[in-house]
Amino acid sequence: MRAHEAGALHGDIGNRGPAWLRAPADVNALVPQLWPRNVTRGQDGSLAVAGLGVRDIAAEFGTPVYVLDSDDLRSRCRDFRAAFPTEDIYYAGKAFLCRAVVRTIAEEGMFLDVCSGGELAVALAGGMPPERIGFHGNNKSTAELSRALDAGVGRIIVDSFAEIDRLTALARERGVRPRVLIRVTVGVEAHTHEFIATAHEDQKFGFSLAGGAAIAAALRILDEGVLELRGLHSHIGSQIFDTSGFEVSARRVLALQAQIRDARGIELPELDLGGGFGIAYTSQDDPAAPQDLAKRLRKIVDSECAAERLVVPQLSIEPGRAIVGPAVFTLYQVGTVKDVDGIRTYVSVDGGMSDNIRTALYDASYSATLASRASTAEPMLARVVGKHCESGDIVVKDEFLPADVQPGDLVAVPGTGAYCRSMASNYNHVPRPPVVEVRDGRARLIVRRETEEDLLALDVG
Ligand SMILES: Cc1ncc(COP(=O)(O)O)c(C=O)c1O
Repeated sequence: MRAHEAGALHGDIGNRGPAWLRAPADVNALVPQLWPRNVTRGQDGSLAVAGLGVRDIAAEFGTPVYVLDSDDLRSRCRDFRAAFPTEDIYYAGKAFLCRAVVRTIAEEGMFLDVCSGGELAVALAGGMPPERIGFHGNNKSTAELSRALDAGVGRIIVDSFAEIDRLTALARERGVRPRVLIRVTVGVEAHTHEFIATAHEDQKFGFSLAGGAAIAAALRILDEGVLELRGLHSHIGSQIFDTSGFEVSARRVLALQAQIRDARGIELPELDLGGGFGIAYTSQDDPAAPQDLAKRLRKIVDSECAAERLVVPQLSIEPGRAIVGPAVFTLYQVGTVKDVDGIRTYVSVDGGMSDNIRTALYDASYSATLASRASTAEPMLARVVGKHCESGDIVVKDEFLPADVQPGDLVAVPGTGAYCRSMASNYNHVPRPPVVEVRDGRARLIVRRETEEDLLALDVG
């Protein structure tokens, strides 16, 4: 069968995939922007990362396994640092956090955004200087705020009046003056999935700009004088490609900045524009380079500041996905291949929604490739699914894999560095996979595989 006829194999019943998906001329070819920079297909046809073959990785660490290309991660940090040399870059730890990543981020001169006591604990354990930590969250507990104050975190991004009251009381008790930003809900509809859009009015984060809560919060903090209000913060969502949302958000937040100045004669010195910069999950995604993002964001801020006659504040951003997402792929082993006659072929792997919930949760698209060998077979449109007791347990909705894919083969899914391990669960009591860092042909375990003992250790009844 010829490549472009692949859809015909399954008839017309729903197995054509999205309109843009085409059978590749070479099913072994890698689309470079989807893969960590040091991934290649070796002479034997299998994938290698930084010179280390995936079959060796699977033999040593088992599957599924998240494989982190350590130099790729560093190079993405450096690209952002080069593009934003005077801005503070907070890596959004929710994307993926462990001590080794904290150390890398810290060494690369980045700051770190955490949003829970647990993330704060990992950040501190990894050696991130507390003054370079920003603490987020719409429902920080008194215990979490106390811990943040005691650790001396650099910025607390306040999210509600209740939190302002709590933090003010804790600061008074300790005789300290924590530096805070106000998270502003700017009312922007980011062009992304509903669950990862965070600045439209009807949602839980931040102080509403339109409703007047944001100005009220700023004036309360300034008038009380217990917390040091450093600036405003806006995060409009995630996996965003179109910078027009940032433009509207910067305009609105800087208008608020001008309002605060007019009300109290104070210009806040900082502005955090959040994260959300999109990455490529499929060949259809075309993310902007950090240099281009920097240019666009600076232009937006400069012109809005000029319009409001404001001094340009110190800017910060909070990329998570764009730093770690493309640096990782997940390696799975195929267990069964099932051709559901006339509908589609299901390739079942040994992980699934417990190690990557994004497909089920956000209807996210991923891609996949046969990783343990090359194949001369024709491309076959397949759905890569997991091993969970859930029909929505899909890893990759539609992908062309070689028609001879079979049990025992390794399949790799790129772009899994962000919001996969960090959102992993134990559903069906499937232990969470390890994270292996590869550099210069050598692999190092940075997060070990969960064991059945780990699962049972919590079960005390
Ligand atoms: C406040 C804040 N900053 C930054 C991020 C990071 O977003 P991304 O990983 O898409 O860059 C998030 C993600 O939810 C967030 O909520």
